[in-house]
Amino acid sequence: MSQAEEAPETGLRLERPGEGGTPVAVGSGAPEERRTVDLPETLPVLPLKNTVLFPYLLSPLLVNSARSKKVIEHVLVTPQRLMLAVAVNKELEGSPGQGDVHRVGTVVRVAKMVKFPDDSYRLLVQGVSRARIAEFVEDKPFLRARVELLRERGDKGSVETTALSRNVQQQFAALVAQSPKLSDELQVVSANLDDPGKLADLVAWNLELDVAGKQAVLEELDVPARLRRVLVDLARQGEALRIETEIREKVQSEMGKTQRDYMLRQQLEAIRRELGEAEDSDAEVQRLRERIEAAGMPEDALKQATRELERMAQTPAASAEYGVIRTYLEWLADLPWSKQSEDRLDAGEARRILDEDHYDLEKVKDRIVEYIAVLSLKRDLKGPILCFAGPPGTGKTSLGRSIAKALGREFVRISLGGVRDEAEIRGHRRTYVGALPGRILQALRRAGTRNPVFLLDEIDKVGQDFRGDPSSALLEVLDPEQNSSFSDHYVEVPFDLSQVLFIATANLMDPVPPALRDRMEVIELPGYTEEDKLEIARRYLLPRQRAANGVEGVGFDLDDDALRGLVRSYTREAGVRNLEREIGRVARKVARRVAEEGLAGPVLVRGDQLPELLGPVRFEPELAERAGRPGVAVGLAWTPAGGDILFVESTRMPGKGGLKLTGSLGDVMRESAEAARSWLRTHGAELGIDPEAFGQADVHVHVPAGAVPKDGPSAGVAMVTSLASLLTGRPAPPDVAMTGEITLRGKVLPVGGIKEKVLAAKRAGIRRVVLPEPNRKDVEEIPGALLEGLALEYVGTIDDALAHTLAPRA
Ligand SMILES: Nc1ncnc2c1ncn2[C@@H]1O[C@H](COP(=O)(O)OP(=O)(O)OP(=O)(O)O)[C@@H](O)[C@H]1O
Ligand SMILES: [Mg+2]
Repeated sequence: MSQAEEAPETGLRLERPGEGGTPVAVGSGAPEERRTVDLPETLPVLPLKNTVLFPYLLSPLLVNSARSKKVIEHVLVTPQRLMLAVAVNKELEGSPGQGDVHRVGTVVRVAKMVKFPDDSYRLLVQGVSRARIAEFVEDKPFLRARVELLRERGDKGSVETTALSRNVQQQFAALVAQSPKLSDELQVVSANLDDPGKLADLVAWNLELDVAGKQAVLEELDVPARLRRVLVDLARQGEALRIETEIREKVQSEMGKTQRDYMLRQQLEAIRRELGEAEDSDAEVQRLRERIEAAGMPEDALKQATRELERMAQTPAASAEYGVIRTYLEWLADLPWSKQSEDRLDAGEARRILDEDHYDLEKVKDRIVEYIAVLSLKRDLKGPILCFAGPPGTGKTSLGRSIAKALGREFVRISLGGVRDEAEIRGHRRTYVGALPGRILQALRRAGTRNPVFLLDEIDKVGQDFRGDPSSALLEVLDPEQNSSFSDHYVEVPFDLSQVLFIATANLMDPVPPALRDRMEVIELPGYTEEDKLEIARRYLLPRQRAANGVEGVGFDLDDDALRGLVRSYTREAGVRNLEREIGRVARKVARRVAEEGLAGPVLVRGDQLPELLGPVRFEPELAERAGRPGVAVGLAWTPAGGDILFVESTRMPGKGGLKLTGSLGDVMRESAEAARSWLRTHGAELGIDPEAFGQADVHVHVPAGAVPKDGPSAGVAMVTSLASLLTGRPAPPDVAMTGEITLRGKVLPVGGIKEKVLAAKRAGIRRVVLPEPNRKDVEEIPGALLEGLALEYVGTIDDALAHTLAPRA
């Protein structure tokens, strides 16, 4: 405990009334309780170096700096034994001065003090109340300040608070049950605590938060907000604990499995030998020698293999070592050192094959055809490393397969999702029991040639943990300068990957480390419009599902209405995966009727039959139904699934000017709403809004769906439109969507994810999109065809924006 002056001792004790001879706690909560604290005007200040204390809780403290000991000695002779404990706000060596401590701390009462032989003081302190330093009155011999008690805010009895408290109790109980570090009695204590503010404090104190995190909880006076904050921290810690356990279990079970397999294989080998079924070792060495000679290895690999062959010949066949060497040599012999497939260098034919499998995706197809054309002129061309980025179901994986077909190459795919260990890419050293090559060389053996199309699927999902960083191994794989001598820990001799055509896929490029991103040519597949989807369904999905479900013979088909119905009301996605699934479901229903009722074809499914086949509509055409009323604005959100529209709804009720925000909004989004209201308060008159209106009503802004957490500043324009629409009674036209951050001075700032947002708007049937002026350059990157039928309005100020987003004055 070198750094820490006043550190909590290990373990937590909870105050139970009457225990430890302490006066019963003065609560942190209700004002009437508070009056019982007869606070002296000024209090000594005890700086805390790595903890935060909370009201109501009884906490152990260790004090060993001379200056802090003076505080304690002084406090012990005062009648109430009160002091203000505040956390220091930075790391520092010496004793903290006025500027080094947070302003908000906890008034605590020293309940017990024991002097230890090493001259340190061990205390038990009882939290009394949250308090704020109004001003410092003394510096020496210790800090002393004038202190104001802080009151909690927020309705403790409200439905929201109750729901939040219950949620906190449940999550905390779950965490306590899982965590070996938290005592089980905490479950009982938290379940019986009916003061929501105290509950939040108790949980925060027991979570592994850093000082800043605990301080934030301490400073949050609004009880529902404090509960919400604690919920987030709880979720985070629960997740961390879950991952920790998972990793531990996975490592254990993997080690267990490879070792078990290894033992079994050894036993099997011994049995075969016993039965006289195994080759004798001389013949085995000879056979391997022939395979190795035929493998066409480069010189250093051949040298290594010969050395190992000799070692194998010297090793008794019954020993474990013999098996290890044999497995190794088999791997060496099986790798495609020089086996290569002949490329099909016919650009026209390649184009035909690509078109046969996929609709549109011109950019990718052009790039591949171009590559083939150059390859036919310059045979030793290094392949480009393409990376397809886009939402799920947009054809990234299946394109990879189709490219292999077009080039006439083998195709292999590895999924990088959840790979956390460098050894999964690069293999384990041979000294490790049950070691094998990494996934790259395993896949190449599967391919059987050294020039396959190699799909690195989900490169954005590569993880990283204590077992090393897989992305550094990937860097080597994807670097044309290095990959001609890729080193696998198991194989030991370098392998040439330069003839492989690597293609990566990702849903998002953000999580991909920049060094890796730089190596690749990123091609975006941003998702399909409704028309695209219909085309894909007709040409590709329907024929495939017809064949898969045996309804070709009955002339199974869907009319345009039915397909459109599937796209609009039974799926909501950027890609076509769910659409294909739904077509499959319809096909199966039809197949069943054909079988059961002897239905004779042709079967044409009409749009109005969908509910009967698939059940009620799953996605309402929300737009028509919800937008267009005063107070409702259509915003645009970026999501990993490729963008979506989002509604901002405001309503008004009698009140005193309050602003209520619901729908799981993050802090930044809440601030946007506040900014929107403040701007309208100052500029509303120009729009004809009565300034009095703000004082006489509470406004409630809701962003459905409430269960999905939303954050970010980009809903600013939608917030201000929604409020302005409510207060002026002018509806926002239902076919207008908007995005943009706003400032209090009325400017509209640029936002991210423009392409996804614009496409989502189009999918949802929006006709006009209002965008921040600085985002014009992002729009220029979207192919013109995708923007057909959409009018884009660029705005620089809130005034401009409202001119577009609100219906004209009556
Ligand atoms: N342009 C297209 N033309 C024809 N079929 C398509 C097209 N785009 C996607 N598909 C089909 O949609 C299905 C889903 O595609 P795929 O599995 O390749 O998606 P993905 O982009 O790899 O998704 P994820 O990111 O979830 O892995 C496949 O059956 C694919 O053939
Ligand atoms: Mg995929």
